[in-house]
Amino acid sequence: MTEFEPPVIRPRRLRQTAALRRMVAETTVEPRQLVMPLFVREGIDAPLPISSMPGQVQHSRDSLRKAVAEAAEAGVGGVMLFGVPESKDGVGSGAVDPAGILNVAIADAVAEVGTALTVMSDLCLDEFTDHGHCGVLDETGRIDNDRTLAIYAEMALAQAAAGVHMVGPSGMMDGQVGVIRSALDGAGRSDVSILAYGAKYSSAFFGPFREAVGSSLEGDRRTYQQDPANALEGVREAVLDVEQGADIVMVKPALAYLDVIRQVRDTVDVPVAAYNVSGEYAMVEAAAANGWIDREPAILETLLAIRRAGADVILTYWAVEAAGLI
Ligand code: PBG
Repeated sequence: MTEFEPPVIRPRRLRQTAALRRMVAETTVEPRQLVMPLFVREGIDAPLPISSMPGQVQHSRDSLRKAVAEAAEAGVGGVMLFGVPESKDGVGSGAVDPAGILNVAIADAVAEVGTALTVMSDLCLDEFTDHGHCGVLDETGRIDNDRTLAIYAEMALAQAAAGVHMVGPSGMMDGQVGVIRSALDGAGRSDVSILAYGAKYSSAFFGPFREAVGSSLEGDRRTYQQDPANALEGVREAVLDVEQGADIVMVKPALAYLDVIRQVRDTVDVPVAAYNVSGEYAMVEAAAANGWIDREPAILETLLAIRRAGADVILTYWAVEAAGLI
């Protein structure tokens, strides 16, 4: 064997035992930092499995209440509700109707848990429009940003009236956070907070979600969701949201955008959330189902990596399960 000076510096010393590793761990994932997205579908009596998201379902109103109670029991930070209406139209009328599925589900969830768990709701039109876009269209078929804003304001008021604690505007219309903030404040609802999807990318990783909400999207969302090529633009969007009154800003998806999470975390002074989206969930579930990946460690590593990148809060379909694993 060749002669050499034995290393004096040995980083492995701190990895020798589980107790040492635990002591020096830089990042943790705690149940309170996880938010569970839940889908509720109008007109069904029992939950329906979502085939592209094994383990996830479209809830009935009844099963949603149970899922919300279960999330509270698990100690997660909150739930994010998405509605799947029975009928859709060009302007997403179901979104602003107090009897619309998302609004009744918000009321159900709040009746179930009160303030013991933070109840959040998606504030976007794509689940409610027949063309599947996040906004309304003008005569030429283009997204009408400002007419959409007026509907978002109404939608925020309907969700607030239903009792929501935090709204999640996800449509990426310019000025949406400011318009929603002033609508809420004008209605005496300065108590309702805003989790803004600041940096939301036009991503292939939303694929399974489109099945989950029965979306009938024609075309793509590239005129409003961001180009995956751009990180600075994501920071800019997040800063604009904070300036307009966002209480929390979100980066979405998470795994392919860990650099954006870090840059946003280093730039803003509000909590940063990240959305571990449907496609990210489906990839791990599919690989695990094939025996190609060890499921639980992969889930925990995924969540840890998103936290390490700088996310304070993670929206993840594993929230309730992971809370049990931690
Ligand atoms: C829009 C919305 C989407 C998701 C959350 N909110 C879909 C989209 O923008 O196309 C995707 C979430 C996921 O993929 O898990 N209302």
